[in-house]
Amino acid sequence: MNIAIMGFGVVGSGVAEVFTKNHEMIAEKSLHAPFELKYILDIRDFPDSPYADKMIKDFNLILEDETVGIVVETMGGLHPAYEFVSSLLKAGKSVVTSNKELVAEKGCELLATAKENGVNFLFEASVGGGVPIIRPITQCLAANDISEVAGILNGTTNFILTKMIRENMELADALKLAQKLGYAEKDPTADLDGIDASRKICILASLCFGKHVSPDSVHTEGIRSITLRDVAYAGNAGMVIKLLGAAKKTADGRVLISVSPCLIDQHSQLAGVSDVFNAILVRGDAIGDVVFYGRGAGKLPTASAVVADVIDSAKHTERRRIFGWTDSEPGYVADCAAVPGRFYVRGTMTDGSGAGTATAGMKSVKVLFAENAPADEAAFLVNAPSETWLRKTLQTVGIADPVIMKVTDY
Ligand code: HSE
Repeated sequence: MNIAIMGFGVVGSGVAEVFTKNHEMIAEKSLHAPFELKYILDIRDFPDSPYADKMIKDFNLILEDETVGIVVETMGGLHPAYEFVSSLLKAGKSVVTSNKELVAEKGCELLATAKENGVNFLFEASVGGGVPIIRPITQCLAANDISEVAGILNGTTNFILTKMIRENMELADALKLAQKLGYAEKDPTADLDGIDASRKICILASLCFGKHVSPDSVHTEGIRSITLRDVAYAGNAGMVIKLLGAAKKTADGRVLISVSPCLIDQHSQLAGVSDVFNAILVRGDAIGDVVFYGRGAGKLPTASAVVADVIDSAKHTERRRIFGWTDSEPGYVADCAAVPGRFYVRGTMTDGSGAGTATAGMKSVKVLFAENAPADEAAFLVNAPSETWLRKTLQTVGIADPVIMKVTDY
């Protein structure tokens, strides 16, 4: 059997590299199915690549070649990846992808297409890069009723926050460094605005709770509004700021899901996860809490997960890997601004007074301090019946444009 790679970017070239370097071992591990890399599809030219003889630009060569049994999709983006993957599955070819946008948006449909056609659609690399998480959820933790899944799902923003927390580096400088080191894209929107993490928490929530969650139904905030003073206020309260994706089942069978910067205790497991590392906590009724930790991005770590899926698919050409989720009904995603919690607030008092005036009448308030904070700035922790209630109350007491973050117990 042959394989093909679609998309020769960072991950696709990593897949070719791992596949070539470990070819003998991969053939052995695939048991009855030694396979060869036959095509690499990309619109760009790579004349100096060691794989130049495998480069093609015509997708139909892969689609129509009966010797190609497994196709790796590392193109990224929704189109034409969706159309290509859908046609390949319908043509009886298994597909392995690292494309979280594709899985988050179209996973439910593509898994059903794979099932109808007796082939595999595997996507271990779409969440957590090289960190095993999809297979542990679908196999190792299969005996559990999972109530919650949460974690640090984006390496770039975790790198930036780590620099802000440990080195007092401004966000803009940390971003420039992340770009220089190749972590952040030239256009860092998907990372900074939480869009990448939102796609990943959707995939995890869909898998853990069995119903599709679309990224456009997820409350998503990024890290752009966080300042070094927020980091200092949090630090003086014994906490750190992390961008968390979190999904939780509610008592009435719905899901609370969000991506937002949160304050967590500086001694918690997730607080110690630094730089580009990811960590994902799964809470099950039998296992309790289990945390998966490792390199969440990068060429070879992500290729490691992709090639493992290729091996798994090759070993299961007769018996499909059965897992997936169903469509969800309207209203399945609950309003996360309507639930009680503890919150961090930082804002400017429009009347020039300080936190004392701002918090008069609020419950369980802890006023926070930071060096060189302006006199009219109020920063505090507070319990509130909901974020919606808190926003209205802050308006009433005269705090303009407040930064609000959840305090979590992860
Ligand atoms: N941009 C992503 C990150 C890459 O920084 O985590 C892996 O999905």
